[in-house]
Amino acid sequence: MQGIFPTDSFQDPYPFYAQLRREAPVQRIDPPGAWMISRYADVAFVLKTPQVFSSKIMAGADPYLLGNDPPDHTRVRRAVTAAFSPTRIAALEDCIREMTDRLVTDLIDARECDLRASLTVPLPLSVVAELLGVRDGPSLENLSRWSNAFVRAGSGAANPAQTGELMRDLKAFEAFAVELIAERRRAPADDVVTDLLRCSDPELTDPEAVSLSRLLVIAGSETTTNLLGNALVAILERPELHDALAGDPSIFPGLIDETLRFDPPVQFLQRRTLQAIELAGVSIPAGELVIALLGSANRDEQRFDEPDRFDPTRKSGGNLAFGTGPHACLGAALARMEARVVLESLGPHIHGLRLLDQPVPRVETPPLRGPQRLRVQVQV
Ligand code: HEM
Repeated sequence: MQGIFPTDSFQDPYPFYAQLRREAPVQRIDPPGAWMISRYADVAFVLKTPQVFSSKIMAGADPYLLGNDPPDHTRVRRAVTAAFSPTRIAALEDCIREMTDRLVTDLIDARECDLRASLTVPLPLSVVAELLGVRDGPSLENLSRWSNAFVRAGSGAANPAQTGELMRDLKAFEAFAVELIAERRRAPADDVVTDLLRCSDPELTDPEAVSLSRLLVIAGSETTTNLLGNALVAILERPELHDALAGDPSIFPGLIDETLRFDPPVQFLQRRTLQAIELAGVSIPAGELVIALLGSANRDEQRFDEPDRFDPTRKSGGNLAFGTGPHACLGAALARMEARVVLESLGPHIHGLRLLDQPVPRVETPPLRGPQRLRVQVQV
């Protein structure tokens, strides 16, 4: 989905959003030939009205859950919700803490490091490997390559020279997932994939289970990488937060929530209109592509006071970083937990970390937003 933003706004898309909210909150932009929805109330309405705004436009990523509409979506969602039970997520915390502490100890030993390469990429990938029950399966390097391939395929960022490699990576994941599902059907294990197969009624088909395994990698890795990265950018750019970070863990949940509002890892969601509809006084015909700008909704001055100020003590809640409505994120509790554990582990060392690149370069693969790299000097 290249071409959604003016090319110079990857670094900071928020002034572009503010202009849309002010001047044209429901506006067709060509290219890419899509309706941009920028105000909080309208974005929430789009996401909560699947009978008008269909998710089937996202079937390329997964046609059964993410790219599906009720009522078919409801059966699959029930299975995934059961597999992501609070007990299953809570049981992961010790293991996530162990992995995080190991990564943090290694990076503290270096004099200089890229927090993206050393922490925010490997941690969520290792957690996805835990979910799939393949800790000793494909290397993190393979999971990372596949996850990158999904990001490039989703954003249209691959150039023709890279397409062959992309197709090879997508096929390699498919082969891995087919084997994984067959193995779990033969020998159930204590993991989310086994629960997925067990919890659905009627049972998930092989193509459904393979697609949902891919969705876990797509939905669970780069998004969380960018939440962790955006939180670390917000902290490293604000020395006034460092004392609290080092000594007062009670600020972590507010800090994570404010990061999600201020700089959401997923900047927009796509829908297709099934019928004509009027939104904020503008008529949108049937069959049109609609872009619900989460990043803009979270900065809407009609919903949040002083929306451009980063304030971890903000009490307003209700930001749209995890979406809302029938497709609201099923991994939100897990992502928040990963972020909290990272802050707990890195917090005591925060005074010794200094950002080397300012402004921090941002990824150019929409709809994602996060640091492209996060180089720091380590003096602890
Ligand atoms: C900070 C990290 C994350 C962010 C910002 C995020 C964001 C989102 C958003 C915005 C949606 C809604 C999609 C839509 O309405 O079309 C979504 C759906 C979903 N997310 Fe997340 N997500 C994150 C982490 C995770 C994790 C860790 C997992 C699981 C491992 C996960 C699993 C899912 C699934 C399965 C869906 C599809 C739900 C459905 O279609 O019914 N997410 N996520």
